[in-house]
This record gives sequence, structure tokens and C-alpha cells, in this order.
Amino acid sequence: MSPNEPASNAGIRNARAGAMRTLIVYESQWGNTEAVARAVAEALGPETAVERASALAASDLAGVELLVVGSPTQGGRPLAGVTKLLTSLESNALASTRAAAFDTRLPMGERGFALRLLMRTIGYAAPKIAKALEAKGAHLTAPPEGFLVEGKEGPLRPGELERAAAWAATLRAPVGR
Ligand SMILES: Cc1cc2nc3c(=O)[nH]c(=O)nc-3n(C[C@H](O)[C@H](O)[C@H](O)COP(=O)(O)O)c2cc1C
Repeated sequence: MSPNEPASNAGIRNARAGAMRTLIVYESQWGNTEAVARAVAEALGPETAVERASALAASDLAGVELLVVGSPTQGGRPLAGVTKLLTSLESNALASTRAAAFDTRLPMGERGFALRLLMRTIGYAAPKIAKALEAKGAHLTAPPEGFLVEGKEGPLRPGELERAAAWAATLRAPVGR
């Protein structure tokens, strides 16, 4: 390590001796988002850690090379555990980190016009998580993604875990930077 190299970069370099240090962070009320998080982790390989956001401190994200953050959409936003963790980070804490965001959400198509309009207006958790990740210096490696549940307690729509695994497989692509 050169004397000018920030300590966090040294940590990342050391991690590169083994697998890419990858962490999936999630919140989940009924387990659907957790199931997506675990499917993403499995697709990314056995070295991938999966942790609930509320169990983590800002320092746990130091040296992570690929960070995937997921939450249920509630009222158009992520759950507080995710928001709190991300806002607790220093402004450049994720400068050496590639990141991606996902949420779980209800399908828009089967709702009435007024509810569809409301859902479109308030938006979804994943774009907000992605924005918070970028605000801390992270480089997004994929657009924010949403996975569908059939009702507020689930279950996930058939095929969504497979879609999550396919989405995860795109996340290791180099970021244009
Ligand atoms: C209080 C509340 C608010 C919700 N708001 C939204 C919403 O704004 N948009 C949406 O698509 N789904 C909404 N949902 C449905 C959740 O996205 C769904 O419960 C979640 O995907 C289930 O994931 P989990 O099992 O990980 O908690 C809401 C659910 C609850 C309980």
C-alpha cells in the first residue's frame, strides 16, 4: 500500500486477493424482499454476504466492492432501516463501490386508475435507494429494479426469484468510469 493510498482502498485491494467483496443489504416485513436478496446473493456466488440493514453500521460497508441494497416499497419509499443506514454514511463512503438497488412492489396493472396514478406519483423504493447510493459516491452498475408481489404480504409472483438471479448476473459488468 502506498503511503498516499486511503485505508479503505487498501482494504478493498486485500479483499481482491480472494473473491470480490460483495454485500447484499435488505429490509423486509414479510420476507419477500429477503427472499429476493437471498436469490441475488446465490446468483453472485458463495462469498456473498447477506445482511439486514438494521443490523449494520456504516463501518460495515467499508471495503465492499459490490453493494446491492433492497427494500419493500412502502408508501413509495424504502423502509427506515435502509434509509437510516445509507444516510449514516459519510458523503464519499462509497466512492470505491459499485452498487445496485432493488425493491419489491405491487403490480400496477391490476389497480384502478386512481390508485395507479397515486402509485406512479409516489414512486418506488429502488430509485430512491439508487439516488441515496449515488449521493454517497457509489457507481451504479445497473438501473434500479422492482420485483413483484401478488399482495402486500406476498407471495412473490412466479418467476420473480429467477428474474432476480438473472438481474444479479448483470451486476458484475464493468461500470463506465
Ligand atoms: C404500509 C404499506 C405501504 C405500501 N406501499 C406500497 C406502495 O407505495 N407501492 C407498492 O407498489 N407497494 C406498496 N406496498 C406493498 C409492499 O411493497 C409489499 O408489502 C412488499 O413488497 C412485501 O415485501 P416484504 O415481504 O419484504 O415486506 C405497501 C405495503 C405496506 C404494508
